[in-house]
Amino acid sequence: MHELTRRDLVKGSLAASIGAWVLPPGTAASRGEGDAADAAIPEAPDAASRERLLLDFNWRFHLGHADDPARDFGYGGGEEFAKTGEFMSTPSKADFDVSDWRAVNLPHDWVVELPFENDPALYNQGFKPVGRGHPATSIGWYRRVFEIPATDHGRRLSLEFDGVFRDCLVALNGIYLGRNLSGYAPFRFDISEVANYGGNNVLVVRADATEHEGWFYEGAGIYRHVWLVKTDPVHVAPGGVFVSSEVSGGAATVTVQTQVENEGDAAPVTRIISTITGPSGKVVARAATQPARHAGWSGREYTQRLAVRNPALWSLEHAQLYRLTTIIEANGAEVDRLDTPFGIRTIRFDADHGFFLNGERVELKGTCNHQDHAGVGSALPDRLQAYRVERLKGMGCNAYRTSHNPPTAELLDACDRLGMLVLDETRMMSSTDEALSQFGRLIRRDRNHPCVIAWSIGNEEWRVQGSERGALIAADMKRLARQLDPTRLVTEAMNGDWGKGLSDVVDIQGFNYFQGDIDAYHRGHPRQPTMGTETASAVSTRGIYEKDEARGYLSAYDLNFPPWASTAERWWTYFDQRAFLAGGFAWTGFDYRGEPTPYKWPCISSHFGIMDTCGFPKDTYYYYQAWWGDAPVLHLFPHWDWPGKEGQAIEVWCHSNLERVELFLNGQSVGAQDVQKDTHLMWKVPYAAGVLEARGSKGGQVVLTAKRETTGAPARIRLVADRPRVAADGEDVAVVEVRVVDAAGRLVPVADDEITFHVTGSGKLIGVGNGDPSSHESDKGDARRAFNGLCLGLVQATRTAGEIQVEATAPGLASGRLSITCEAATPRAAVP
Ligand code: GAL
Repeated sequence: MHELTRRDLVKGSLAASIGAWVLPPGTAASRGEGDAADAAIPEAPDAASRERLLLDFNWRFHLGHADDPARDFGYGGGEEFAKTGEFMSTPSKADFDVSDWRAVNLPHDWVVELPFENDPALYNQGFKPVGRGHPATSIGWYRRVFEIPATDHGRRLSLEFDGVFRDCLVALNGIYLGRNLSGYAPFRFDISEVANYGGNNVLVVRADATEHEGWFYEGAGIYRHVWLVKTDPVHVAPGGVFVSSEVSGGAATVTVQTQVENEGDAAPVTRIISTITGPSGKVVARAATQPARHAGWSGREYTQRLAVRNPALWSLEHAQLYRLTTIIEANGAEVDRLDTPFGIRTIRFDADHGFFLNGERVELKGTCNHQDHAGVGSALPDRLQAYRVERLKGMGCNAYRTSHNPPTAELLDACDRLGMLVLDETRMMSSTDEALSQFGRLIRRDRNHPCVIAWSIGNEEWRVQGSERGALIAADMKRLARQLDPTRLVTEAMNGDWGKGLSDVVDIQGFNYFQGDIDAYHRGHPRQPTMGTETASAVSTRGIYEKDEARGYLSAYDLNFPPWASTAERWWTYFDQRAFLAGGFAWTGFDYRGEPTPYKWPCISSHFGIMDTCGFPKDTYYYYQAWWGDAPVLHLFPHWDWPGKEGQAIEVWCHSNLERVELFLNGQSVGAQDVQKDTHLMWKVPYAAGVLEARGSKGGQVVLTAKRETTGAPARIRLVADRPRVAADGEDVAVVEVRVVDAAGRLVPVADDEITFHVTGSGKLIGVGNGDPSSHESDKGDARRAFNGLCLGLVQATRTAGEIQVEATAPGLASGRLSITCEAATPRAAVP
């Protein structure tokens, strides 16, 4: 437990932050004493009074204007702050006419809806018109009217925003609640004093995306969830639970720190009951504090230690989760109840041997990722977070760097559930109040996730990373990280200046694209753990095998990379040979919008992904699967449709982790080769239509075969959903892959037919994509061309149980049909 100092209050915890822990003047934090650990502690019978209601549905949206108050709902007229209650006064009025404001649900990204524009200034943002040069499409207004019952009077109410891009102003009932700059850090506002009890409340948010925070597509708007939280005056402070554990000799000691706020005049006698429930649903430990009087308008901090025998450890293979239930009793009645999922596991970085999970060395087989996806931009429904993590796991990836910003909480939930390690990164490397507030909010929100293994304080901060100033900034950030979470180390993703500036401060030295001198660095800094915070940046286009500059495509062979980067094979071979390195994070798991390196317009998305923007694997996916995963892999490419190239030599590659592979063309052996660890196989084969076949063997036995066949013309559409069933909760999503196949059912690898989606029944189409880095088609239409045989439809469940019928049609092709069952489900508690 750390004592709260004045510096914490000023530097670490701003009142508008989630995790605000600001004591009123004249009060002090105190510790609960004399903890009683006893599994038979009786609980007070009352129902918990905490409610956390999703505020995602039934918003209205309208674009504003960055330069013209008349087109910005009067904002900027000059008197916004003059009188309390007159902030953003036009849309805040109860009778404001919203008939030309569009109905939207959150999460919502308005930038993904905009047409592409060939303005070189928009390169980073994927040529979407947002920024100072595009005032008419860079301000977004959101409005939501909701009722707060009279019976809520006396409770504490707050609005929690998981992420708004960016620089947003928020007003409730015309009262300015505050401003939040960061497009990535969560924030909250207490509304207890300004709510209208027993009537309607008008919530207005103005998001200003005229400035960017990164150099990649960021989207804009309320692109994460919003919550209305109601508690008793005596409640667990936001972000105020911290669970950590130590494991030794088959038992775990779980330390629970709980910050309790009393935001009321009464001074009840309170006690805190902490209950741990194991992965199987059985209560395994319980502790209660001694009852004590909790003075009005004060905060208290309690530390409890609970023993868990034979803990089920959280690991990559068995991501077992425990649940801490925190109950606050005031004068014998239960007034707050909060569940915190956590895992019991140990982590350790070692300078000579890399990273250890539960005492065993785990090589970090990581990817860096931005947060956008095909069809939805930055506004991902929760299911898509899990879908992306599943795809990454499918190639043997075990670690995820949230480059270069705080992720959404649901990504970490998915990593907890599925077993994926996370390097959790803040956006702004700085020791200003603003930057520390953002970093502090990230840590307080994320420190209970077992998946998180380290904090990243920044990326390639070339102006400061090598200097004393950089060292001072890093020291401030590290101090905050240690205060809020002494269990994890801190790194920065440095792209130079190693051994200078903040190298001396960070616990783990991060290397971005640093190949030759890592050995020298390790020799000179033998006590500092090291890892490849960013590697690869290999560029490729799915299904393309010849560079095509005019269309903005690169070949999918693992051969292309910008000057600072390397192939997948080169970086992984290098890291895999060095036990002292903890492993590394390839740039990137998925293609993302923006940074279409090495091209410009008409290219609109990056080529760095091991998968494309839809999550369709490129060929290098199977390189990683072969050398990161455990299962036998035999992947043969390119496709075998090269009319006009008869007799010309084609490079045929194979990614395999078997011992030997023999290649056959139309039944004739082209030759056999032994597989060398961490590398690929290659043959030059004169093209002749027919069947290319690889036979992979182990111990002299053929264990896998892979074929590429010359296909016929596109004949029909096949649909494949990621899951046969979704939940009728209004949020769940099915990912529907569209395959254009020939009469024999083989994927036609060059098909580009325009597919139209028809979704009826209990679902709706929310976005489409095809992974083509130069496609200017809309993500929000109901049609999309196939790109090299594939495209994608994202289908969201309604709240009505039943069947979802998906039909995909294209001129001249037999339609594809698919039925997905939308199963009855209880939607999350939401604001009506
Ligand atoms: C890195 C940077 C990434 C991305 C990448 C492209 O230097 O950290 O954000 O720009 O280069 O290769």
